[in-house]
Amino acid sequence: MLAKKWIITFFLTLFSAFPLYSLLSGEGMFEIDRKFYPYYPSLLKWDKTRADFTKPTSCASCHPEKYAEWNGSMHSLAFKDPIYQGELNAAVKAVGPEIAKQCEGCHTPAAFVKGEIKEPGLKGKSELALAGVSCDVCHSVSGHSHWQTPYRQPENGSLILSPG
Ligand code: HEC
Ligand code: HEC
Ligand code: HEC
Repeated sequence: MLAKKWIITFFLTLFSAFPLYSLLSGEGMFEIDRKFYPYYPSLLKWDKTRADFTKPTSCASCHPEKYAEWNGSMHSLAFKDPIYQGELNAAVKAVGPEIAKQCEGCHTPAAFVKGEIKEPGLKGKSELALAGVSCDVCHSVSGHSHWQTPYRQPENGSLILSPG
C-alpha cells in the first residue's frame, strides 16, 4: 500500500513540476522575428514582388458562377458583417488595438497586408477591403510558414500570399 502511494506521489510531483520548470527556464515562451512576421500577431506573409491583388468583381466577368457562389457567402461577409465589426470593437476595447491585426489578417487578408486598414469601421474602405476573404486571398496562396511559427505548427494565418 505504501509503495503504491509513493509511486502516485512521485508521478504527481513529476507532472506538476513541468509547467513550473518551463516557466522558470523560459521554455515554452517564444520570441517573434518581426522581420519574418511583419504583421504579427497575424502570421500572414505577403510576397510583394508579384502583381497586386485583384478585386472579386474583376474575376466576375470571366467566372460569373464562381462570383455568384462567393457573393453573399460568409467569406464575402467576413469583414463587413456587423457581428464581426462588433466583436472586433469589443476585442480592441478589452485588450487594446494590437489585437485588431490578428483579426484582420484572417477577416480581410489582402487589404490588411497592403496596410489599408488603418481605422476601425467600414467607412472609406476599398472594395478589396470590404470583400473580406476575396477570390485572391485563396487563389494567391503560394505556400505556408507553418513550421516556423512560434509554436511550430499552423497558426494565426501562417500562409504566404503571392498574387498574380
Ligand atoms: C479575362 C478572363 C478571366 C479573368 C478576368 C479571370 N480569369 Fe480565371 N480563368 C480564365 C480562363 C479562360 C481560365 C481557364 C478556363 C478553364 O480551364 O476552365 C481560368 C482559370 C482559372 C482557374 C483555374 C486554374 C487552373 O489551373 O485550373 C482559377 C482558380 C481562376 N481562373 C481564378 C481566377 C481568379 C481568382 C480571378 C480574379 C482574380 C480570375 N480567375 C480572373 C479567365 C479569366
Ligand atoms: C486564424 C484566422 C482567424 C483569426 C485570427 C480570427 N478569425 Fe474570426 N473567424 C475565422 C473563421 C475561419 C471564421 C468562420 C469559422 C466558423 O464559422 O466557425 C471566423 C468567424 C468569426 C465570427 C463569426 C462569423 C461572423 O462574421 O459573424 C466572428 C464574429 C469573428 N470571427 C470575429 C473575430 C474577431 C473579433 C477576431 C479577432 C479577435 C477574429 N475573428 C480572429 C478566422 C479567424
Ligand atoms: C475560401 C477560399 C476560396 C475563395 C474565397 C475562392 N476560391 Fe475559388 N477555389 C478554391 C478552391 C479550394 C478551389 C479548388 C476546388 C476544387 O478543386 O473543387 C477553387 C477553384 C476555383 C476555380 C477552378 C474551377 C473549379 O471549378 O474547380 C475557379 C475558376 C475559381 N475557384 C474562381 C474563384 C473566384 C472567381 C472567386 C471569387 C469570386 C473564388 N474562386 C473564391 C478556393 C477559394
